[in-house]
Amino acid sequence: PFVPLRRITPDELATHGARKNSAKVYWTVLEGRVYDITPYLPYHPGGEKELLRVAGKDGTKLFNLTHSWVNWDNMLRGCEVGILVSGNEMPV
Ligand code: HEM
Repeated sequence: PFVPLRRITPDELATHGARKNSAKVYWTVLEGRVYDITPYLPYHPGGEKELLRVAGKDGTKLFNLTHSWVNWDNMLRGCEVGILVSGNEMPV
């Protein structure tokens, strides 16, 4: 079945950051796609603390600086939440 991608604004993304996040559900963005990284936290070879640096933010740059060879697209399939839209984009 066709499942439309959820549209996520920077404001909603920011509620899933490392701080002031009582739900403790952490999202990041890689190449415009939003991922729930919570299930992966205990498995990250670089540790939870490093991974949480990109929580609530666009992690593309830091990810690529650290390990551009890692195939995140493949790894995080199943953790995709939606796509990031700019804050003022009109919903359709
Ligand atoms: C290692 C995945 C984000 C820091 C790794 C490795 C994977 C991985 C698969 C092993 C790579 C290898 O051995 O060749 C991910 C995924 C991320 C993410 C899926 C985002 C969703 C980050 C971020 C940082 C980071 C934001 C922050 C600096 C590291 C470090 C290592 C590492 C330092 C090396 C650990 C070691 O070998 O001792 N990560 N990572 N990662 N990652 Fe990440």
